[in-house]
Amino acid sequence: GESAPAGPFVPTKEDYQKVYDAIAQRLANETDYDDGSYGPVLVRLAWHASGTYDKMTGTGGSNGATMRFAPESDHGANAGLKHARDFLEPIKAQFPWITYSDLWTLAGAAAIQELGGPVIPWRPGREDKDVAACTPDGRLPDASKNQDHIRAIFGRMGFDDREMVALSGAHALGRAHTDRSGYEGPWDFSPTVFTNDYFKLLVDEKWSQRKWNGPAQFTDKTTSTLMMLPTDIALIKDKVFRKHVDRYAKDQDAFFKEFSDVYVKLLELGVPFKTEERFVFKASE
Ligand code: HEM
Repeated sequence: GESAPAGPFVPTKEDYQKVYDAIAQRLANETDYDDGSYGPVLVRLAWHASGTYDKMTGTGGSNGATMRFAPESDHGANAGLKHARDFLEPIKAQFPWITYSDLWTLAGAAAIQELGGPVIPWRPGREDKDVAACTPDGRLPDASKNQDHIRAIFGRMGFDDREMVALSGAHALGRAHTDRSGYEGPWDFSPTVFTNDYFKLLVDEKWSQRKWNGPAQFTDKTTSTLMMLPTDIALIKDKVFRKHVDRYAKDQDAFFKEFSDVYVKLLELGVPFKTEERFVFKASE
């Protein structure tokens, strides 16, 4: 008999798990970078792709992956994210059916899980847009500013104070680079492991302004090897933010749960999904 004509390829959860596995494999193989992992910069790529969202106009957000194009790729806040985009090119070549905007967000979720963080349920449905959909510069936060700026930027995306603090806990991962943001150093001693250490250090350590030629940043009294940005310190200066910093410093489970919920929300801002179901991917062993 005749076989049925092949319809358009409709990926299933298993197909997305294969993408996850390929990202996890590449993370495990490519250790000759920074502190030994591309995970942190993948988390940052997914965040900067999503954090352009403006709830009033419905523009920006992860749908579109417009950071592929200048001018968005050249915005100061996105300096260094080419490392993350290039890291994912072989994955895109292996699974050409996935959109860049789904791939970048899935990679952010995968990186959190592979670095020991909470499960990040994820759903597909983003479509890539062209250069005309690039967002204007200035939608992402400026680390030199204070709590009013944090509230203005994250309020525009639709987040409340608690969610702003939870999201900031991603700074448990990675480091700042002088040739990218101008700032320098990691926030904690294990920048490739997702923990609540960022909050613990904010609370337990004494932070003073670093004496150097670079932009104003803070350093820890005990070792002088860690750093906090002015916006990180704003979280302990502001009473309402501080309440959540204290809570997450004491309760890693609460942080993991609330971080997962808010990172999922971030990655979905402004996306016209056709499906309700989120996939929970199995982490590598
Ligand atoms: C790194 C600023 C919120 C995840 C950085 C860097 C800066 C920065 C200046 C250093 C970039 C470099 O030099 O490579 C801020 C400000 C925020 C904020 C001002 C809000 C007030 C967030 C959020 C997330 C996040 C919400 C994710 C949920 C990361 C990660 C890195 C990073 C993972 C490390 C990247 C790497 O190691 O390459 N951030 N950030 N940040 N940020 Fe944020």
